[in-house]
Amino acid sequence: MQSSKFTMPRFPEPYWKEEEIPSFEKLKSDTATDIAVVGGGITGITAAYLLVKEGFNVSLLESGSLINGTTGHTTAKVTAQHGLLYDDLISHLGEEKALAYYQSQAEALHFIRSITSQRKIECDFSNEDAFIYAESSKSAKKLEKEMEAYQKLGISGELSESIPFNIDTKAVLSMKNQAQFHPLKYLKPLLRDFLDAGGKVYEHTTAADIEEGENARVVTNEGFKVQCKHVVIASHFPFADFKGFYFAKMHPERSYSIGVKTKKDFPGGMYFSADKPARSLRSTPFNGGELIIVGGESHKTGQGINTVKHYEALEEFAEEMLGITDYPYRWSSQDLFTLDMVPFIGPITSKQKNIYVATGFRKWGMTHGTAAALLIKDLIVNKENPYAHLYNPARFEADPSIKKFIATNTNVAAHMVKGKLEPAEKKKEELKADEGAVVKIDGKRTGAYKDENGKLHLIDRTCTHMGCECEWNEAERTWDCPCHGSRFSYKGEVVEGPAVKPLKKVKPK
Ligand SMILES: Cc1cc2nc3c(=O)[nH]c(=O)nc-3n(C[C@H](O)[C@H](O)[C@H](O)COP(=O)(O)OP(=O)(O)OC[C@H]3O[C@@H](n4cnc5c(N)ncnc54)[C@H](O)[C@@H]3O)c2cc1C
Ligand code: FES
Repeated sequence: MQSSKFTMPRFPEPYWKEEEIPSFEKLKSDTATDIAVVGGGITGITAAYLLVKEGFNVSLLESGSLINGTTGHTTAKVTAQHGLLYDDLISHLGEEKALAYYQSQAEALHFIRSITSQRKIECDFSNEDAFIYAESSKSAKKLEKEMEAYQKLGISGELSESIPFNIDTKAVLSMKNQAQFHPLKYLKPLLRDFLDAGGKVYEHTTAADIEEGENARVVTNEGFKVQCKHVVIASHFPFADFKGFYFAKMHPERSYSIGVKTKKDFPGGMYFSADKPARSLRSTPFNGGELIIVGGESHKTGQGINTVKHYEALEEFAEEMLGITDYPYRWSSQDLFTLDMVPFIGPITSKQKNIYVATGFRKWGMTHGTAAALLIKDLIVNKENPYAHLYNPARFEADPSIKKFIATNTNVAAHMVKGKLEPAEKKKEELKADEGAVVKIDGKRTGAYKDENGKLHLIDRTCTHMGCECEWNEAERTWDCPCHGSRFSYKGEVVEGPAVKPLKKVKPK
C-alpha cells in the first residue's frame, strides 16, 4: 500500500453534518398521540411527514439527534440499481416479485424527485445514470445475466465496456435516469412541514419497550409512556421484537466513506463495483466546486479487525482514480441485511397489527426508507398497496432463507462464547495514549481505552442487547457488537442500537 500524502481527518465526520438541523427537547412526561414514530432518519421523518398530512397527531421520538444515524452517514445515491440484484430476485422470488421490488423503488425515486421539484427543495438533487462495473470475467458474466433481468422487467439500462476512470473494466451495466442528493438538505423541509402541521419531536428520548394493545404504549428508558393507536418502528434495527426474531433474520455490515477534493474533474454518474473489495464513487457540490465521495470496504460489524486500514484503502483508490488534493471528511456506517435481500416493511408480526417495522435496507435506504414510509402510511389509512405482500415481515421464503437463518444464528451463538474465551490482547500498562484493546482486570477480560490524557476507561464488553462480546473499532474509538450491530462509546454509552442500555463500567478491585 502506498503511503498517505494526507493525515486522515482525526474525527469521523460525514460531509452532510455541515448542514445544521434544529434541535428538540426530550420527552419529560407521559403523553398521548395518534401515532408514535420511533427513529428520526429518512424512514421516520418521511413517515411522520406523510402521516401528519393525513390528519393524524404524530409524535416522533429519537434517541439521539435527528438525521444523525445511518441517514446522516449515507452516500445518498437515490437509485433502484441496488448492486447486482434483479437476476437473483427473479431466480429466488419470481418475476412478479422482482418487478414489484423494482417498481416500489422507482416510485420512491419518483416521490423524492417530485417533492423536491414541487417544494423547490435545494438539496443538490441531480439526475444521474447509475453504473455497475465488472473487472473480472466472472462478474462480467453476472452483468450480462443482470441485463437480461433488466430486459425481462422493462428496466431501462445498457451494457457497455468502459467507464471514464483508469479501471480495466470487462463490462459495465447502466440504469438510466437515477439520482443523487444531500440527505439532510432534503429532509429538513419535510421536517419543517411536519412541525408546521402540528407534529411533535422529542430528541434524546430512547424508546425501550412497547406495551401492546388497541391503545399501545411506547415506554421510554426514563419510564415515560406515549399512548397511541399505531407505532412505527423506524429505529433502523427494531428496538422491540415481539418474537419476530429480527435478531436472527438480519445481520449488520459496516462500510467506509471518504470525502475528498481531487485534481481531476468528476465525469458525472454514480459508480459501484461488482467485484470485491466493493468501491462506490459519486460527486456532490461543495463550496463552489465538488467533493468526491468514495465508499466501500464492507465487512460484518465488529469483524473489521484493523478499521483504519479500510480508510487507507479508499484513500489509495481515490488517489489512483482522480488524484487527491484535500481530504477533509471520513465516516463509516452500517446497514442491515435480511435473509432474502428484501427489506421487512409492515406489521412487526402477524399478531401485532398496529405496530409497524421498516428495516433491512441493505445499504439502499434512500429509496427503501421512502418506499417504507409510503407503504406504512397506506397500511395505517387502510389503502391497498401493491408492495405490502412483497415486503411483509411475516413472510418466510424457503429458498434461500432457511440455511442462512441457521447460519446467522450460529454466528451469533459463536460470538457469545468466543469473546469470553479468547486470551486478552494486551496488558493495561502496554496501552498507548488513544489506544483501545481487551485487557485482563481482576482475572476477567475487560474492554480498555486509554484516552489522550492517559485516563483509562474500563468497560464490560458484554453487549446489553443479547450478550455477545463487543470488539474494539480503532478508527471510530467505539466498541462494536458483531451480532446485531449495537455500538458503544469508549465510556460504554450507546452510540447505535438495538441495545438501549450502556455497557457496564468496570472498577478494578
Ligand atoms: C456506508 C453506507 C452507505 C450508504 N449509501 C447509500 C446510498 O448511496 N443510497 C441509498 O439508498 N442508501 C444508502 N445507504 C443506506 C441508507 O443510508 C440507510 O438504509 C438509511 O439511511 C436507513 O434509514 P433509517 O431511517 O431506516 O435509519 P437511521 O437513519 O439509522 O435512523 C434511525 C434512527 O432511529 C434512532 N433510534 C434507534 N434506536 C432508537 C430507540 N430505541 N429509540 C429512539 N430512537 C432510536 C437512531 O438514533 C436513528 O437516528 C448506505 C448505508 C451505509 C451504511
Ligand atoms: S447482542 Fe445484539 S447487538 Fe449485541
